[in-house]
Amino acid sequence: MPNETKLAFIGSGIMAEAMIKVILDKALIPPNQIVGSGPRQERSRELRDRYGIATTTDNREAARAADIVVLSVKPQVLPAVLIELQGCIQPKVLVLSIVAGRTMATIAAGLKHAAIVRAMPNTPAQIGEGMTVWTATPEVNQQQRPQAQAILRAMGQEVYVAEERALDMATAVSGTGPTYVFLMMEAMIDAAVHLGFSRRVAMALVIQTVLGSALFARQSKKHLAELRNMVTSPGGTSADAIYQLEKGSLRTILSKAIWAAYQKSLLLGEQSNSISSPERELPLDES
Ligand SMILES: NC(=O)c1ccc[n+]([C@@H]2O[C@H](COP(=O)([O-])OP(=O)(O)OC[C@H]3O[C@@H](n4cnc5c(N)ncnc54)[C@H](OP(=O)(O)O)[C@@H]3O)[C@@H](O)[C@H]2O)c1
Repeated sequence: MPNETKLAFIGSGIMAEAMIKVILDKALIPPNQIVGSGPRQERSRELRDRYGIATTTDNREAARAADIVVLSVKPQVLPAVLIELQGCIQPKVLVLSIVAGRTMATIAAGLKHAAIVRAMPNTPAQIGEGMTVWTATPEVNQQQRPQAQAILRAMGQEVYVAEERALDMATAVSGTGPTYVFLMMEAMIDAAVHLGFSRRVAMALVIQTVLGSALFARQSKKHLAELRNMVTSPGGTSADAIYQLEKGSLRTILSKAIWAAYQKSLLLGEQSNSISSPERELPLDES
């Protein structure tokens, strides 16, 4: 990342703060070259005190001075922001959107700007352990691409996809993914409490088991079925537990859940990208 790169966040909420934190932690860009824009003075003060970045309540002022403009507002706010920013983003600037469900075509048309990266991070990005899937318009040049990649990589791992439709698929798998994992963890914790563990101990057991299993799966490079077979002794506890999970159609349910999330992502994208008036925007959350 060139030393003088200036970064503006349009929308200084949870995700913007997560990005600012990891960018500063990894010393990608110094705090005095980052500006966070948002409507609330109180929030601006908080970010200034916490990170030493510049802040403003004027989106246009923030965008005018930046080399990279990050769009980090809620989807329903985006149409108004695009109209507001029209004409103040120089052609050489990279626009990086993390706004769920809004296509690059919608953003390009709204801003009248061509160089756009669209990314779908997930909540573990907040601690630098995220999974971000991203794509870019052909106008994003060879200097801008690695810059976008470096910013996204600061949040954890990133995967570039050539086709934008893969972002809807990623929304269902990695974007919404933490909710599936959290629900399973919650169920495991409740079951452990049912057995007689205190909630504190149950949580510790489940969190470390999930974390350890994920790290083990990543490091061992073995097929997951092989790892599962390693702990499934003939006539043992795992075999009985797996029998119940299969009987309850866990795989089918997960597959149906991910398919449903994908269909919903497509539907919300179609609805929101076909609506141009900010007043008629449909509510669209990140997952
Ligand atoms: N959270 C996630 O894990 C996640 C994952 C993937 C993608 N995303 C996407 O990231 C985006 C931001 O999500 P978030 O969770 O960070 O939301 P958030 O915490 O609500 O942040 C949005 C920020 O935008 C500010 N804002 C409102 N109107 C504005 C305007 N006209 N101009 C500039 N700023 C304005 C809000 O200020 P006030 O608080 O004062 O209203 C708030 O600080 C969303 O589009 C979401 O789809 C989030």
